Amino acid sequence: MTAPALPKTYRVKSFGCQMNVYDGERMAELLDQQGIARAAEGEDADLVVLNTCHIRERATEKVFSDIGRLKREDGSSPLIAVAGCVAQAEGAEILRRAPAVSLVVGPQVYHRLPQMIAAAASGARPVDTDMPLETKFGSLPARRKVGPSAFLTVQEGCDKFCTYCVVPYTRGAEISRSFADLVAEAERLVDAGAKEITLLGQNVNAWRVADGRGLERLIEALALIPGLARIRYTTSHPNDMTEGLIEAHRDVAKLMPFLHLPVQSGSDRVLKAMNRSHSAASYLAVLDRVRTARPDIALSSDFIVGFPGETEAEFAATVRLIEQVGYAQCFSFKYSPRPGTPAATMEGQIAAQVMDERLQRLQAAINTAQLAFNQTSVGQNCTVLVERKGKYPGQWLGKTPWLQSAHFGGEPAIGDLVEVELLEAMGNSLAARLIEPAPV
Ligand code: SAH
Ligand code: SF4
Ligand code: F3S
Repeated sequence: MTAPALPKTYRVKSFGCQMNVYDGERMAELLDQQGIARAAEGEDADLVVLNTCHIRERATEKVFSDIGRLKREDGSSPLIAVAGCVAQAEGAEILRRAPAVSLVVGPQVYHRLPQMIAAAASGARPVDTDMPLETKFGSLPARRKVGPSAFLTVQEGCDKFCTYCVVPYTRGAEISRSFADLVAEAERLVDAGAKEITLLGQNVNAWRVADGRGLERLIEALALIPGLARIRYTTSHPNDMTEGLIEAHRDVAKLMPFLHLPVQSGSDRVLKAMNRSHSAASYLAVLDRVRTARPDIALSSDFIVGFPGETEAEFAATVRLIEQVGYAQCFSFKYSPRPGTPAATMEGQIAAQVMDERLQRLQAAINTAQLAFNQTSVGQNCTVLVERKGKYPGQWLGKTPWLQSAHFGGEPAIGDLVEVELLEAMGNSLAARLIEPAPV
């Protein structure tokens, strides 16, 4: 086989969480800096980066089916780089399983991509899944062009070791990026067009720097950046919801009234077996404190159904918790045993049929809650950040402060903050009417 030439065009495809989306953008910027151009829509790229997710079995399998699909009609393949959490978890095993793959790069070392691509172009198949002490962020090019709503990774890794989860293994220990770096990157994002910044971390509210400053201090500092209108953060852990952060929801106007705080289950026995280190009651107590600080806050969570040993009564406790909280939105998953995690070898693995049936019932409860939440918004006026055009001609899409999708007509521009009246609630969105563009 002749070695492929240095790539001229690239495409980055990200799966999984928002941190992967962020990493995908940073890899794209690095490739731009190397003089490799983003492939035009619908055209073959010389280099395809698959930025993968390992969280559930199906996510992992998707990588291998995607690799198969990259083969061109003439039998050739682009240079294929496997990045992200599958890269970290499976490393060289990917090269054995998928001969078309040219290189494997873990999430902590993608700043080394240029050298790895050069090596791959001369026929080597490099694998780098280091977790070096020095961070990649210092070696990446500065942010240049972003949409109105941008991501900013502030914290990486997880020390919580929930018994079902691969993240502590694929992303390593919790690290916090420095205050100064983050303020500088946020300023650049705003210069590049961002009106809203979502701070990201596997445990974003565990962010703190050596002198003890926590996430609320960072949020306060970012709120001072002129031109930045909205701040969000995700994903948080109930045990890291400090009083200071809760108070920021009361005191910082730019911090949006939305909190994604996963609980996973409503049963204390299941939570204990998951090693979640909170109970249903302590979680609900956190929500109470947040609601006291910011009464209109929209709440969101993740749920797992069918954790090993989950009984019908334990599952019913989860449904009751959903009914009790009145979530604005939720994500729900069937438990997926992950190799190397403690839960994968626990007794009482739940049959697929039972999981399917529980997931349906859980999702019915979630849909009811979501629609009810959206209905309470009808008749209100609020600000929407215009993010993109909608499916229909003349339609625009944006997010309300409570992270609901709103669609409306009129002639705003992408990136405008506009005032709308919310007219009609659907399960996943609201129809709205543009009142007036906010002053520039
Ligand atoms: N750090 C965040 C998010 C982690 S991954 C948190 O702790 O909330 C996102 C979600 O995927 C989790 O909240 C969990 O609901 C789900 N998840 C993680 N591992 C899973 C597994 N093995 N099977 C099914 N869902 C899983
Ligand atoms: Fe996974 Fe738990 Fe860490 Fe979240 S807190 S990333 S679910 S181990
Ligand atoms: Fe998936 Fe890794 Fe994110 S496993 S959810 S891409 S941290």
